[in-house]
Amino acid sequence: MSYTIYPLKELKTDQLPEIATLHLGDHGLLTQLGYPFVLRYFEIVLKDNRVVGVIAKDDQNGKLIGYNIASPEPSSLTSQLTDDKVWFIKEIIKVIFTHPSAFIQLVVSSFTIKSQMEDEADAIESLYLTIDENYRGQKVGRTLQQGLFEEARKAGYKRIVGSIETWNEASIKMCQSNGFVIKTTFREGKFIRHRIEKIL
Ligand SMILES: CC(C)(COP(=O)(O)OP(=O)(O)OC[C@H]1O[C@@H](n2cnc3c(N)ncnc32)[C@H](O)[C@@H]1OP(=O)(O)O)[C@@H](O)C(=O)NCCC(=O)NCCS
Repeated sequence: MSYTIYPLKELKTDQLPEIATLHLGDHGLLTQLGYPFVLRYFEIVLKDNRVVGVIAKDDQNGKLIGYNIASPEPSSLTSQLTDDKVWFIKEIIKVIFTHPSAFIQLVVSSFTIKSQMEDEADAIESLYLTIDENYRGQKVGRTLQQGLFEEARKAGYKRIVGSIETWNEASIKMCQSNGFVIKTTFREGKFIRHRIEKIL
């Protein structure tokens, strides 16, 4: 299997459903809110020129097999989910009835996300990294993350930070093998996360 890494700007709007579907392989809060939220989130990501990101495509079939995105202000992305009030109220009511714990977690996490990147002007936060299930364990994640470091350096950042769930051995191994260190461990609602950092 051979693949190529491209900057996120190579992703076209008609590929938004593909990246949103790929994201559903992540077990975090955004996935729990459901596909409409994931799709809307990536629409926002693609329009935000402060987002730094990379995607990986299979050279044989052109399939999107992974991505890693980062932002200096993650809360500015999530807050835009409420811009279209009618859409947001309709979708959040569905979540409240079908998945109430995800709604409660959303409220808790939105406060945590907002406070985390204050006074971190030289840093960018890695938000999501997902590899297609059929391509995992072949170093795509590790290589993609290195591609993100390169893009972040080019954009002038000196540090990259992130949060990973403590049960996620694959993610912890990948981050450590790429030079991240665990700074703290904290609780965010039902999630227990490591706060990680790497000097770029
Ligand atoms: C975490 C994830 C991105 C790793 O991607 P990947 O391409 O499978 O990982 P790689 O093949 O690049 O492996 C990187 C390192 O992690 C280790 N690793 C990968 N999968 C592992 C697993 N299931 N259990 C233990 N270690 C694992 C590898 O051995 C490798 O270690 P090494 O560099 O010391 O040899 C992928 O499993 C995934 O998409 N998971 C779902 C989404 C997710 O959890 N994202 C991370 C959120 S922070």
